[in-house]
Amino acid sequence: MNSSDSQISNPAQIEIVEAKLFATVVAEEIRASINDALAERGRCSLVLAGGSTPSPIYRALGRPSKDEAIDWSNVHIYWGDERFVSHDDNQSNYRMADETLVAQMAGRRPKLYPVNTALKSATEAANAYSETIQQAEGLKPGELPNFDIVLLGVGEDGHTASLFANSPVLNEHGLIAHAITPPNGEGERITLSVDSITNAKKIIFIVKGETKAIVMRRVLEGEEQLDALPAKLYKNAKGAVTWFIDSSAATKLATKLEKRS
Ligand code: 6PG
Repeated sequence: MNSSDSQISNPAQIEIVEAKLFATVVAEEIRASINDALAERGRCSLVLAGGSTPSPIYRALGRPSKDEAIDWSNVHIYWGDERFVSHDDNQSNYRMADETLVAQMAGRRPKLYPVNTALKSATEAANAYSETIQQAEGLKPGELPNFDIVLLGVGEDGHTASLFANSPVLNEHGLIAHAITPPNGEGERITLSVDSITNAKKIIFIVKGETKAIVMRRVLEGEEQLDALPAKLYKNAKGAVTWFIDSSAATKLATKLEKRS
């Protein structure tokens, strides 16, 4: 996908939510999307975002009141990206989801597909993860996953999942996952590819906090292209895109949007 491709614009839905309601509102949207997939196909493939923003959302999602229960037994959970650390490391996105989402669940559990970070290298882990997804989603060789729901955060630098600006993987096509080294030189990571994300039926971005106000304006209103701002991949999404932004992260948006309060 070169930068000219990123002109394909996708009319994303943007929801501005009061900070105090953010976790509840987003958890409700995810719950409804899961139940829609289960009702339509008897199965739901859900890709989790990492970082810190999702934690309260996952706690709310894992602990719905009884009339909002989700039949997790037909939900298949993947990770949009993972740090190449052991699953008990406090940097692990698997650990964050296990402690917030899965730990809350009573009764039947989802099928979890964590990245195998016990392998010898991040590259091996990315290749193995691609095979795991291929098998679990019943994909033919070379076929991309068509996840029901992909959750994504956005970094202050405009990265999403672990797709960072000017990374060569932004223009690699047909692959399911990559191993990458973040520009800040921190530890290696495994990330879903741009194509694996944009091929999803539904993408839900979750962005909270005033530190994200500038990047939100760049992503939603600026002219920069995907190579400089990987979160711009939403413009090439084949499915539905919904942005959930809390009021602090929306302060620099020129377009005044209805706030859910
Ligand atoms: C990760 C993420 C990353 C994250 C953003 C936002 O593993 O770090 O997947 O893409 O979503 O960096 O992180 P915060 O929610 O902590 O701001």
